[in-house]
Amino acid sequence: MATMTVFAFVLLYLCYFQNVTGVTEREVVDMLLTGYQKEGRPVQDPTQAVVTSLDVFLIQIVKLVPQRQVLIVNLWLLQRWKDDFLSWNPAEHGNISSIRLGINKIWRARLVHYNRQHEEGWSKTPDTNAIVRSNGEVLWAYPITIHSTCVLDIVNFPFDVQRCPLKFGSWTYDASSLKLLNVSVRGNMDEFIENGEWTLMSFDLEVNHVEYSCCPGVLWDDMTYTITIKRRSKFYVLYFVSPSVLMAFMAVCGFWLPPDSGERLLLCFTLLLSLTWLLQVVTHHLPDTATSIPLISAFFIATILLAGTSAALTIFTLSLHFKTFDLQPVPKWLRYIFCLGPLHPNIVNAPKANDHEDMDASFVTDDAMPMEALQPSRTLRARNVLQHLKDEHQSMSRYGRLEKEWKILAGKIDRCLLVAFFIVLVVLTGGIFGPHV
Ligand SMILES: *[C@@H]1O[C@H](CO)[C@@H](O)[C@H](O)[C@H]1NC(C)=O
Ligand SMILES: *[C@@H]1O[C@H](CO)[C@@H](O)[C@H](O)[C@H]1NC(C)=O
Repeated sequence: MATMTVFAFVLLYLCYFQNVTGVTEREVVDMLLTGYQKEGRPVQDPTQAVVTSLDVFLIQIVKLVPQRQVLIVNLWLLQRWKDDFLSWNPAEHGNISSIRLGINKIWRARLVHYNRQHEEGWSKTPDTNAIVRSNGEVLWAYPITIHSTCVLDIVNFPFDVQRCPLKFGSWTYDASSLKLLNVSVRGNMDEFIENGEWTLMSFDLEVNHVEYSCCPGVLWDDMTYTITIKRRSKFYVLYFVSPSVLMAFMAVCGFWLPPDSGERLLLCFTLLLSLTWLLQVVTHHLPDTATSIPLISAFFIATILLAGTSAALTIFTLSLHFKTFDLQPVPKWLRYIFCLGPLHPNIVNAPKANDHEDMDASFVTDDAMPMEALQPSRTLRARNVLQHLKDEHQSMSRYGRLEKEWKILAGKIDRCLLVAFFIVLVVLTGGIFGPHV
């Protein structure tokens, strides 16, 4: 009971003290807002423009969505203006020099972000308080996340630099009734939080006075902030470029594999599949436009072409290597190009196919004859057999030699292709990525 009494006394004392000091903030607010009209511009002289200063703090780059070509950023917007109808004399009002008022209760310039995406809506401006000073100066700051249209230039992807403008201005007040003022030469980056994907290069500001085709002769103020960001390319180099370069080298190295191992085509097609898949993954990071081909896609397409050509040429050299059908000597011009040396004499003096026909016949008839009758022809027969064996051997060795020559040719072509593709790949990789590394 005793505590309750003490409490009641304290309350009474506080109320008394409040009354003694005179004015409360509520009374000041009541005094200011009674009869306040928030729609008209807050100037005593209607011919005067309201001067609104705008400062934009870039807090965070949330995301750049390539498919929608939109940049999502967190900003703090700070506006300052003077409201002639929101001033009081602090000496007469309990020395209260500033009060907070809900922004919806007073006039504001209603600056809009011109190039923001519609789904965000126009009315998403947070309903924060404004600070009103006794001289009528209003300071209104609020944080906002905006989706801003940003046309991407992806030619140099993943080494690209993007410039995204953010245009702020009044939608209805032209320059004669609302004057926009910048407080600094560029946007404010003091509170910026680093982004993992992008490096902020600059946050520039341009103050414009624009005449639109709707209203000739009327100028409109706007402030266009430009965010310039550079992609941190390490991620793409690590996860996309380096595997693709490696795979292209593997495709080239396929020419080094001995054809007999039978692995070459498998290697080529596996690499071809992997490269195509990687290309698909990369395109997810790009806008769906065909106005320009990004560097990385060009590189992927080139490596896929390289791997494809290497597969086709592998088939060609394998066909030479395993040539058994219609075995002709290697043509002269090919020998000349690949320095195969002169034809082996064995190949030049090819035995005629009909040479042995009569001999085979003699074998058949001889067997049926009595041994004595054949006495004089015995040596002849032996010679025939010998000759036959020799021819057979010669023909076999000729065949073997032909086969071997084609194999050597295939091997030489393989080496040439290895060197040629290697050079092409180095030039390609260096040409595309060299200037950016
Ligand atoms: C207001 O401040 C002035 C000087 O600081 C002081 O003399 C005066 O008594 C104060 N008035 C009130 C109501 O507190
Ligand atoms: C406002 O911007 C202009 C250039 O756009 C610049 O010359 C001027 O100094 C800026 N004002 C302030 C207060 O920094």
